Amino acid sequence: MDLNGMHVVITGASRGVGAALAEAFAARGARLTLVARTVPALEDVAARTGGTAMPADLADPAQVDGLIGRIEASLGPVDVLVNNAGIDLTGAFIDMSMADIQRMVQLNAITVAVLTRQVLPGMIERGRGHIVQVSSLAGTGTFPGISVYGGTKSFVTHMTAGVRLELKGLPIGLTVVETGLITPTDMADSVLSYPPTRASFRRFYALGLLADADVHTVARKAVDAVERGKRTVRMPARAFLFPMLTNAPRRLVEMLLVGVPRR
Ligand SMILES: NC(=O)c1ccc[n+]([C@@H]2O[C@H](COP(=O)([O-])OP(=O)(O)OC[C@H]3O[C@@H](n4cnc5c(N)ncnc54)[C@H](OP(=O)(O)O)[C@@H]3O)[C@@H](O)[C@H]2O)c1
Repeated sequence: MDLNGMHVVITGASRGVGAALAEAFAARGARLTLVARTVPALEDVAARTGGTAMPADLADPAQVDGLIGRIEASLGPVDVLVNNAGIDLTGAFIDMSMADIQRMVQLNAITVAVLTRQVLPGMIERGRGHIVQVSSLAGTGTFPGISVYGGTKSFVTHMTAGVRLELKGLPIGLTVVETGLITPTDMADSVLSYPPTRASFRRFYALGLLADADVHTVARKAVDAVERGKRTVRMPARAFLFPMLTNAPRRLVEMLLVGVPRR
């Protein structure tokens, strides 16, 4: 997809990966709608990228309900949706409150499914669209301290594989971003602040199985993937075994796929 003039909605755009994605999409001429809770930070990114700030708490189902419709009513059809907003709440599973578990599943998993569901009918009708799901390598191989987080990322990757099957033959692109730690971000600091998670990452670094990814490189590769219709962004390359092994059964189903009605 040529991104010049395309309307791109990015969630979690007030900092970290989302802010870098906003800059990378803006550099290709896209029109941006930026969603997050922190208004000053969001407006700052909007000012830098010529985008429109749309403050919302995406862990609140009432604010997610009809969100794409409200954006389209005021800013026009959405060509690209980037489901990026997420939280990690790294720590011991047995210390997590019920509210923390619910908030993380709501934001990282349910909101991603709901916004994907909201945006797809219009994209199918217009015969054009792309959805980027910012998942994680934690959705394939998880670590202590990020059990629920890893579960939510598994959900995103796996759900998207199923949606891809249902969209077979349609001009709608889907890209799943699966990386290890992305730096510098608040989330990377949070993940490494819990000693068992930090020790696990260090062991993988020492064995040469994992490396951090730079936030601007991840953003540029995600934007390239939209332009070129690539289905995955995976970093670092040396961690290829994680997604390759987890994805094998999904690709087998795709190879043997029959019975999907054409829309
Ligand atoms: N950083 C990493 O190491 C890493 C690695 C792999 C995957 N990822 C994924 O990359 C994505 C972005 O992570 P990041 O590193 O940029 O994290 P971050 O620096 O903590 O930023 C998270 C973003 O999500 C937004 N957000 C959080 N809660 C929200 C809510 N309830 N409603 C709306 N927006 C909300 C935040 O904005 P407000 O606080 O202003 O709402 C912020 O813009 C996440 O999906 C994460 O799982 C990150």
